[in-house]
Amino acid sequence: MNVLQGRKIVLIVSGGVAAYKSAELVRLLVKAGVDVHVVLTAAGARFVTAVTFQALSGNAVWSDLWDPRMPNNMAHIDLTRDADAIMIAPASADLLAKLANGLADDLTTTLCLARDCPLIVAPAMNRQMWEHPATMRNMRVLRDDGVTVLGPDSGEQACGEVGLGRMLEAEHLFLRLEVFFGPKTLAGRKVVLTAGPTFEAIDPVRGITNSSSGKMGYALARACVIAGAEVVLVSGPTALPVPDGVCRLSVASALEMREAVASVVDGADVFIGVAAVADYRPDRSAEHKIKKSGEAMQLTLVPNPDILAEVAARPDAPFCVGFAAESRDLDHYAEGKRKNKGLDMVVGNLVREGLGLDDNLVVLYDRGGRHPLPRATKAELAHGIVAHLAGLLNAHSLTRS
Ligand code: C5P
Repeated sequence: MNVLQGRKIVLIVSGGVAAYKSAELVRLLVKAGVDVHVVLTAAGARFVTAVTFQALSGNAVWSDLWDPRMPNNMAHIDLTRDADAIMIAPASADLLAKLANGLADDLTTTLCLARDCPLIVAPAMNRQMWEHPATMRNMRVLRDDGVTVLGPDSGEQACGEVGLGRMLEAEHLFLRLEVFFGPKTLAGRKVVLTAGPTFEAIDPVRGITNSSSGKMGYALARACVIAGAEVVLVSGPTALPVPDGVCRLSVASALEMREAVASVVDGADVFIGVAAVADYRPDRSAEHKIKKSGEAMQLTLVPNPDILAEVAARPDAPFCVGFAAESRDLDHYAEGKRKNKGLDMVVGNLVREGLGLDDNLVVLYDRGGRHPLPRATKAELAHGIVAHLAGLLNAHSLTRS
């Protein structure tokens, strides 16, 4: 399941250097199954050509209100018929000013006035233009008119200045669109997750770890943001960037992970243990690098705490979800894990089916039995897992109240 699949979005590209990011946005949207129709303003066409957008979207690109390709000369109405949203990225100061004043003297502005779908704008301009009282006034008017504003971001600008005004990156805009369209099944909920491996130091340069890319935990954190939750991700060492809208606490060892979880889990509605926590750690970590001696070497390992079982045993335990990666007898081990750790739900998978890969085959286990999900990418599975847990959580809250 993908919240953007099958949507129709009219993407207006106005004049700004950030127009190059819109080409990437079109690529991401099309990949997600969105039918994208690009409208390029004359100023936008100075930065990126219509050919680029046509090739990426697979649809004709529009610029002119009087385009003869539209048989009834109603481009301003026909283009947004059935559209789920009009998105303007980049939205220039000039275009935003026109929209705030209800002008309709070209295709772009008429489309925005003659619409009955949401309007989403991603401003992009120089810092001083953004901070100007006129722009601030226009943005207030647009927000009051129900327009959704994404960004701008702060940082280094094409003009060399640093400040607020940069358009959000394509992947951030994509996520914001997912959040915009996604069902808010976790609105008002706080979710804490663990993800990635843990690293148990032997000495300053060596340690014991598990192989875990962190991809599933990060995809779940992102899916929880899309579902409207406040998300805290306690992550072991991974190479993954922090998902937009997620508060990440980085840790290395299981003991650090346990401490970080304890510091944020109070008041959480959901705890999802995705981390591949090392079951054992060396009883001590040497202060200096251990020199090789040619002799056999012995390490004494002591068990690590089970973070998930500890959270599930709290008197005020949140709704707890665990993962079971097994090499055989999945039903037996996953259901056993759910009962032994006192969990509300377990996500089980056979390890040969998914470790390190982008797609996976999983089965969900809860008090109601087993629920296999269709094979899908980790991002899609994350939405499926969140939808299932949100359903259980909402039923759970109803029976509690
Ligand atoms: O018992 P096992 O390690 O197979 O359980 C896996 C589940 O328990 C995962 O959800 C994992 O995040 C969690 N876990 C944990 N702390 C441990 C071991 C596992 O939170 N020490």
